[in-house]
Amino acid sequence: MEPIIITAKGCNKDDYTHHGNMFLTGNGAMGVRGTLCEYRSEYMPAVNLCGIYDRVGDGWREPINAPNGLFAELSADGRKLSLPDSEYSEHKVSLNIRDGIYERETDFITDSGCVCFSEERIVSLADPNLILQCLTVRSDHAAEICAHTEIDGNVWDIHGPHLENFVCGEKDNICYVSAVTHEKSIPINVRETSEYDFPAEERRAVSDKSSFRDISFTAKPGESYKIYRKISVTAGKEHDLSSLGSYENEKAKHIAKWHGIWDVSYIEIDGDEAAERALNYSLYQLNCIAPRHSRSASIAARGLSGQVYKGAVFWDTEMFMLDYFLYTEPQVARTLVKYRIDTLGGALRKAASYGLDGAFYAWESQEGGYDACSDYNVTDVFTKRPMRTFFRDKQVHISSAVVYALDKYVEITGDTSVLNEGGYDVLTECAKFYRSLLLKKCGGDKYEIRDVIGPDEYHERVNNNAYTNAMARFVFRAAAKYTGSQEYKALADEIYMPKINNDGVIEQFDGYFDLEDCCIDEVRSRLLDPKEYWGGAYGVAAHTQVIKQADVVAMLSMLPDEFSDDVKKANLKYYEPRTEHGSSLSACMYSLLSCAVGDPEFAYPLFMKSAEADLRPGGKEWAGLVYIGGTHPAAEGGAWKVAIFGFAGLEIKNSEIICSPRLPKAWKSMRFKINYRGDIYDIQINGGDWSVTKL
Ligand code: BGC
Repeated sequence: MEPIIITAKGCNKDDYTHHGNMFLTGNGAMGVRGTLCEYRSEYMPAVNLCGIYDRVGDGWREPINAPNGLFAELSADGRKLSLPDSEYSEHKVSLNIRDGIYERETDFITDSGCVCFSEERIVSLADPNLILQCLTVRSDHAAEICAHTEIDGNVWDIHGPHLENFVCGEKDNICYVSAVTHEKSIPINVRETSEYDFPAEERRAVSDKSSFRDISFTAKPGESYKIYRKISVTAGKEHDLSSLGSYENEKAKHIAKWHGIWDVSYIEIDGDEAAERALNYSLYQLNCIAPRHSRSASIAARGLSGQVYKGAVFWDTEMFMLDYFLYTEPQVARTLVKYRIDTLGGALRKAASYGLDGAFYAWESQEGGYDACSDYNVTDVFTKRPMRTFFRDKQVHISSAVVYALDKYVEITGDTSVLNEGGYDVLTECAKFYRSLLLKKCGGDKYEIRDVIGPDEYHERVNNNAYTNAMARFVFRAAAKYTGSQEYKALADEIYMPKINNDGVIEQFDGYFDLEDCCIDEVRSRLLDPKEYWGGAYGVAAHTQVIKQADVVAMLSMLPDEFSDDVKKANLKYYEPRTEHGSSLSACMYSLLSCAVGDPEFAYPLFMKSAEADLRPGGKEWAGLVYIGGTHPAAEGGAWKVAIFGFAGLEIKNSEIICSPRLPKAWKSMRFKINYRGDIYDIQINGGDWSVTKL
């Protein structure tokens, strides 16, 4: 594999949100936003930790950003050289996704000439607690340089501050900042060592929340001065930095891990470099957040890019991201499935709190299955008051996603051990949950599910959402399949499914067709404020047929064997023009369905939209007054699904790997690997031909 380099040139001070996402580095245990190393909290740098949450007062519970050990800033001859304010002639940030390395290089202009400052940043895939950072200074004239490096405890928080009882110090060439979380007193430790082999004067000191060094030296013209930093970040026990190998050694171990991932994951597309790049970049993002450090953990909707969406796990993981891991690194898929098994307790408690049976999984799941979703999840732009939303109470389809993933995991891997490790309980408790939602009218013959929110969140509290009913039916069927229950088998047949009209279109929920049928631009033109929320009681979309994201189409994509091609085509045609794609989860579902009905050209732009979700600026950053920016791993997982299940048409039928290629016109050929039941298969698609070779 050739290196793929993602680059941005020049520094615009408004780039920090987009670049923070696009240049993210991470290893599943932590994610480091791709902001510049001299950026303080107003530019949202973050060392975001997986699975460690905290609440302060009435604020939302959210994940912890550790003290930022990567802080580094230069001065030359007493003048600060720091972006975005200092003058520069060239500035470039790049990400080598093959090796998992971030680089930044800036030529600062000073009164006496040019000082070049560069940073290499690695969040080690070989050691979940380790970050490596190499700073290089080169001046074209003799200059007095001071490199100020720091563990900065004044972190960016949305609902913080989460850390308290700071202890900052330095001892034996180790700088450290320790603190504990507010709610549970979890210790967070950041430690740092620096090495360099040139004469310098070093001053170490601490402030109330940080520990820093000033390394001062005289730079000779044209010479490079390198400072190698190792930074450990732990929640709980401290990391023994002295047990690590040299910087280069640790770097080599990290690169080897990335190469191991690409050996299986890399996807070659001949004829479309942009697609090849975006798709593999999507896989880079997924691999930065895969929880390899654990046997039972999951991935948040915004990955490890910050505290947005409360660092919580949504249906995004099961329905959008799981497949990529399932087919390339099943152990990670198992870890994701195990997270839901191990958070069953939270789901049982949530169901009981609503007077329901069984397992109602958290809409926004944190540790232990705690539902972090607030009753007031959006802030009204006009009144500035929190708006009552019903995502937590009514998005009951979440439990079906858990069953869908568990079933897929067992079907594809053949690993039934998860069933005995709690999987059976998940199946039966989720089935019980849906059973307790069923309602039959007096004299009626079918069970209905009323008062729900489907994937399209703009229409709240609807009856008989097609997606929800179909997924509940799926859960009953799965429970019957694994437990032999005749009751669940019968219930599956008794669920009401919304009718198909004369044009073959399935009504998204009862009464949807009676809503005003107007176009998206018309709905948009009714906004009084660009940040206004489109859904809820007064939202501009709520009383129209305009929907936020794939809903009926998601159902047809996720349950492809249950519907005919004609139905798929009719619904694609009907719903696509009515879909705002206001969620990054939407485009890939339409794209996948377009492939299924043999229209890869219609699928292609929607595929690119998913694959480039974090490469392009301009993603949605506000829901009402709530900031929702961050990375989009569900879109990235969705892009993989489109490429593999859509364009290549991969299926496993009776343990056999089969493809039905429908490549977009521009793609001459495509080549990828999958890990199926412990063997690696090399799959090549050439136009309409395909071959599978066991390696
Ligand atoms: C979408 C949900 C999604 C969540 C997290 C929302 O905007 O409507 O379907 O799970 O974002 O990505």
